[in-house]
Amino acid sequence: MSKLAINGGPRAVPDGLIKPWPPITDVDRKYVLDSLNQPNHAWGPNCIAFEQEFAKWNGNKFAITTNSGTAALHMGVAACGCGAGDEVIVPAYSWSSSATCVLHHNAIPVFVDIDFATINIDVNKIEKAITRRTKAIIVVHLHGLSVNMEKVMSIARKHGLKVIEDCCQAHGAEYKGKKVGTFGDCAAFSFNQNKCLCSGEGGMFVTDNEELAAKARMVWSFGETRTPSEKRDYHAYALGWMYRNNDLTAAFGRAQLARLDEYIKIQRKHAAILLKELANVEGLILPVEPPGHKANHYNFTCRIDWKALGWKGHPARFRDAIMKALNAEGVPAHVWQHFILPAMTVFQAKNAFGKGSPWCFGGKVDYDPKRFPAAQRHTDSHFGMTNPLRAPNGPEAVRTVAKAIKKVFANIRELDVDKVLAS
Ligand SMILES: Cc1ncc(COP(=O)(O)O)c(C=O)c1O
Repeated sequence: MSKLAINGGPRAVPDGLIKPWPPITDVDRKYVLDSLNQPNHAWGPNCIAFEQEFAKWNGNKFAITTNSGTAALHMGVAACGCGAGDEVIVPAYSWSSSATCVLHHNAIPVFVDIDFATINIDVNKIEKAITRRTKAIIVVHLHGLSVNMEKVMSIARKHGLKVIEDCCQAHGAEYKGKKVGTFGDCAAFSFNQNKCLCSGEGGMFVTDNEELAAKARMVWSFGETRTPSEKRDYHAYALGWMYRNNDLTAAFGRAQLARLDEYIKIQRKHAAILLKELANVEGLILPVEPPGHKANHYNFTCRIDWKALGWKGHPARFRDAIMKALNAEGVPAHVWQHFILPAMTVFQAKNAFGKGSPWCFGGKVDYDPKRFPAAQRHTDSHFGMTNPLRAPNGPEAVRTVAKAIKKVFANIRELDVDKVLAS
């Protein structure tokens, strides 16, 4: 094996080999130009069609197109009736808005540690976090691997709780043959740049419950009861936001949706190649897909087994040095989160709306990061990749990246952590 690129050796992944996401074709150009050439640029025909097509694709009765996944999550929290002082259970590791969406409606996030193997909420720890104030559970199908929804739904039914699925990374992921977003009371998808369906920004709220859909629509559009397709009375019947999508973005989303199944198939094929190629790399913990779960491989997330590699310092330092070595080889790896959610300042300082709100409305919640050891271990030792798994990249790019990762781990003892981090 040749010298590491970070130590002056040759780079393993040639510059320009890995192509950016998403592929843009004449289909995208046609949809977007057609949108431009019609008169309704705010709420237009593409918004209506996108809702219908996405609902059909995912198997939901109702879909509401939004300007972000976070908006769709907040609509879910509101539609499920979570209000001042209510507690909502969320995983201790996710994107910030999986938890701050709860604050948006004056409710209080209660964190539950993750299961280290799957990186998802530890379903065996949910019940212990339920109190008389608990109203809902937000599950996040992180990195495109579904949560064990059988277990979550049975806990929710037993305690009379609502379930909101954060599917922002999980388009097309399945649990026991059923798509995510069809298990809970409602769900949120994101169409942000890096997501499996990209429309620049954007999102979708989905549900099978007509009452929840109506409540979510009020939050979505100024507290009004009539949609922009109907004759509006411009009356705020409740507190609402402006979470609607626009026609251009919806047009782009529709064009990408037409190829989503093909994209997910490619991601699965590429993940299988990486899993095979990297199976015997010492010190590398690869993503799992337990029986009954079918991941979309949104983010191929590995963990470094620092103890197996003889590292005795802080794991994040070792990981950061390895990341630099991987990046120097041309591997598009990144650290997805540097902090577990309860450690973020908004929760440590409880500084959401000021004057103690919303925590002043509820009971005592404990955000001590030490209560979430699995989430912390994961945070300190992980790195992930969205590319080269995505189209338009092919198996050759994937194999080249696998070779580069093997090169770094085979030469790991060549890595001077202090020197690399100081550079
Ligand atoms: C798990 C998860 N939840 C929620 C979001 C929020 O989505 P958006 O950026 O569209 O608001 C994201 C995206 O970054 C995410 O990864």
